[in-house]
Amino acid sequence: MGTEGMDEASNMKVVLKHYVSGSAQETDMHLTAGTMKLKAPDDSNAVVVKNLFLSCDHYMIFKMTKHDRYADPYPLGSPITGYGVAKILDSAHPDFAIDELVWGITGWEEYSLISDTTNLIKIEHPDVPLSYYTGILGMPGMTAYVGFYELCAAKKGDHVFISAACGGVGQLLGQFAKLHGCHVVGSAASPEKVDLLKNKYGFDEAFNFKDEPDYNATLKRYFPEGIDIYFDNVGGKMLDAVLLNLRANACVVMCGMITHYHLEQPEGIHNLPLMVNKEARIQGYLAVDYYHLYPKYLETILPLIKASKVVYVEDVADGLENAAKALVRMLSGRNVGKQVVAVNFL
Ligand SMILES: NC(=O)c1ccc[n+]([C@@H]2O[C@H](COP(=O)([O-])OP(=O)(O)OC[C@H]3O[C@@H](n4cnc5c(N)ncnc54)[C@H](OP(=O)(O)O)[C@@H]3O)[C@@H](O)[C@H]2O)c1
Repeated sequence: MGTEGMDEASNMKVVLKHYVSGSAQETDMHLTAGTMKLKAPDDSNAVVVKNLFLSCDHYMIFKMTKHDRYADPYPLGSPITGYGVAKILDSAHPDFAIDELVWGITGWEEYSLISDTTNLIKIEHPDVPLSYYTGILGMPGMTAYVGFYELCAAKKGDHVFISAACGGVGQLLGQFAKLHGCHVVGSAASPEKVDLLKNKYGFDEAFNFKDEPDYNATLKRYFPEGIDIYFDNVGGKMLDAVLLNLRANACVVMCGMITHYHLEQPEGIHNLPLMVNKEARIQGYLAVDYYHLYPKYLETILPLIKASKVVYVEDVADGLENAAKALVRMLSGRNVGKQVVAVNFL
């Protein structure tokens, strides 16, 4: 619905009902109706936005639980927050103007008042699908870019392994590694995802880890000469098996550890002593600390997208009423491609 001339609009919101223990369920959240003033307070630096797309990201589970080790919990009764793409409806901030498009942290609601604009980034290239700014052109894209181009020091011919390879970050990591001339293998949890990895993203090999009872044997099969670079998205038993299969001077880039996120007590990793023998390094990172490289990333990625040298798959849920379902779908691994929620038309 158009908002021109309106002072206030009705505003549906996704609110956390109670803190989650174990895996998140759709019933942990509910949709509530409210209203939103469409004017940014004069004495503020805030903007009012219409949310267009919302991103479902793993870190959100940290904020849904109270036993927080990684992030401040969401306040109960308020809309949850996350990365999104939005259009500015009103601005009290000198750097943002009405009708500009932005991506960054916003609310899971139709309209948001964003008081902290620190990580709000203007969209200067709207000639690609705007939803891409939740993924390939947003935080997951930066995660893959930093992991591959800044941290792992990949060389042509390196043997690269990627877990949760079919998701928002993994699909890009694999394609960057292929463009660099690496030999790339990915793991995912279904035949459909394995097919995408091999036939859409161009991985050399892929396997369904659910069909593999012994990860060490699996990795020996796919990497008879060992692994030079492992992009770890899952942690747990897969990480332990990778440590048994590292080559000398290997690099393990810790993007995330999905298998640990639901655990009240993190699991131990048993094979770390092998890092010494292999003179390997392990590197964790947060993409958000590299946002100063975003313009450089855009210079790299936009031509690749436009020339179809990098492909990108999204799993788009339609409407805020399906947002909680989409988030739980992603957290339980049922997404195929980057999980996005389409909220409003431009
Ligand atoms: N360091 C950073 O700054 C940063 C930023 C963004 C994301 N990350 C991390 O990057 C990783 C990938 O994120 P993403 O956005 O690309 O997510 P995603 O891969 O798009 O979606 C999640 C995937 O995780 C897998 N999965 C879900 N539950 C699992 C489980 N219990 N065990 C194993 N796999 C499971 C599923 O793939 P399968 O069906 O193939 O198992 C699912 O498709 C995550 O660890 C995330 O925390 C890090």
